[in-house]
Amino acid sequence: MHSGGSLQLFPFLPRHPLPSYPRAAARSFATVSETPPVRHHGGLRDQDRIFTNLYGHHGADLKSAEKYGDWHRTKDIVLKGDDWLISEIKASGLRGRGGAGFPSGLKYSFMNFKDWDKDPRPRYLVINADEGEPGTCKDREIMRKDPQKLIEGCLVVGRAMNANAAYIYIRGEFYHEATVLQQAINEAYAAGYIGKNACGSGYDFDVYVHRGMGAYVCGEETSLIESLEGKAGKPRLKPPFPAAVGVFGCPSTVTNVETVAVVPTIIRRGASWFSSFGRERNAGTKLFCISGHVNNPVTVEEEMSISMRELIEKHCGGVRGGWDNLLAVIPGGSSTPVLPKAICDDQLMDFDALKDSQSGLGTAAVIVMDKSTDIIRAISRLSSFYKHESCGQCTPCREGSSWTMKMMQRLETGNAREREIDMLQELTKQVEGHTICALGEAFAWPIQGLIRHFRPELEARIREYEKELGSAPFAGGWKPESRAEGKLISPGM
Ligand SMILES: Cc1cc2nc3c(=O)[nH]c(=O)nc-3n(C[C@H](O)[C@H](O)[C@H](O)COP(=O)(O)O)c2cc1C
Ligand code: SF4
Repeated sequence: MHSGGSLQLFPFLPRHPLPSYPRAAARSFATVSETPPVRHHGGLRDQDRIFTNLYGHHGADLKSAEKYGDWHRTKDIVLKGDDWLISEIKASGLRGRGGAGFPSGLKYSFMNFKDWDKDPRPRYLVINADEGEPGTCKDREIMRKDPQKLIEGCLVVGRAMNANAAYIYIRGEFYHEATVLQQAINEAYAAGYIGKNACGSGYDFDVYVHRGMGAYVCGEETSLIESLEGKAGKPRLKPPFPAAVGVFGCPSTVTNVETVAVVPTIIRRGASWFSSFGRERNAGTKLFCISGHVNNPVTVEEEMSISMRELIEKHCGGVRGGWDNLLAVIPGGSSTPVLPKAICDDQLMDFDALKDSQSGLGTAAVIVMDKSTDIIRAISRLSSFYKHESCGQCTPCREGSSWTMKMMQRLETGNAREREIDMLQELTKQVEGHTICALGEAFAWPIQGLIRHFRPELEARIREYEKELGSAPFAGGWKPESRAEGKLISPGM
């Protein structure tokens, strides 16, 4: 029975159109909801935690680690071979924990290029333990409390990419962590888990620790490689990518501590177990480091896609003075754009959700700022950090980081003109994407976040300064009315 060309599903209902209810109200007539129910993420159970010793409840020694499941049937894992391991890592949905979130299985597979076995060069797995991003404090916890997870991860990931050895490049200041790690490596060698015929699998694999000198830019993968080779830590132009030409000119892959440390557990418990956590494309459990104006700063393992509010309230005792006292959050380490409270209210913590909010998950270092924060000063301080850390190879980064630092220092006091806010924005846009490494973005994004969400605060600061001390000189001392007065000659005039 057709009416007016459309199917009449409910003949007892009036033929005239239904009154236009809001969508939610109209939905209440339906017996089946149109979309699948929204899944709640978070509340990770203890039995699903990968890092069982994050708080140092048991020793970092090999015996204790074995009791908690490390090195269990690792020989069988190694014997599974490269193809199987890579496909399992791919299936788990693991994305890099070093900041960029690149799919790890795919990245590791680049090492097994066509005819790789005919290439006589040695092959290296390089672990990025530089952890320089301000706010980030997760890899150090793994190395000082759960080092066997990382060492076992080196063997398993190394096997997946047919590497001969792993170099763990650790930030120089991490003296204690480097000591614990070396002790753990010695124990693993003594037990026959690494070295010749690792775990009795017939596969030879060495692990070395290399201490850096504490430069932030040495965390960038090609800069790290340069530093490992004994040169100044200056990023290389890509291509060639490290999988083709890496450490000492050999095929190499640089990957983060946390990324590697979770792999043995993924393999043991199954890719589908890991991918059952978090939203699609954002799988797994994740270490979040929460610092700043919370009652209990903490590094905690949680399910990916947990809401920011739940993360802070459940694990950190909430924002100092309560959620309503929140001003803003930097969600993924200092280089990710700041988010104001209105966005934080229902922000999910995963790669895609934070990208949708024009920020990023980065290293999942959550920096919480309450209303007592001078947000302009906070971002200005980051500008000084990035200026200090620029390696100086590319002009937009070398000069731009210095200009932005100076402009931010003036905006901090209000000694600026309103139009300089747009100039600053333009400057950061000119840097973004025009540098050898991503340090350019790292100093541009926090400023863009500030302008996007806190422009009224910047303008108010300028007006206050003007009221108290008169307007700031601009462009060599010219005032805005100078052009009208014919004192400013534009190009071509
Ligand atoms: C300036 C700069 C500093 C970085 N610092 C680190 C770091 O300290 N640790 C880290 O794992 N990745 C760091 N990265 C990212 C690395 O270049 C690389 O993407 C990462 O180690 C890859 O590991 P993943 O695939 O496991 O995420 C940095 C990148 C840049 C541009
Ligand atoms: S972007 Fe900055 S840190 Fe990176 S290579 Fe260029 S100058 Fe060096």
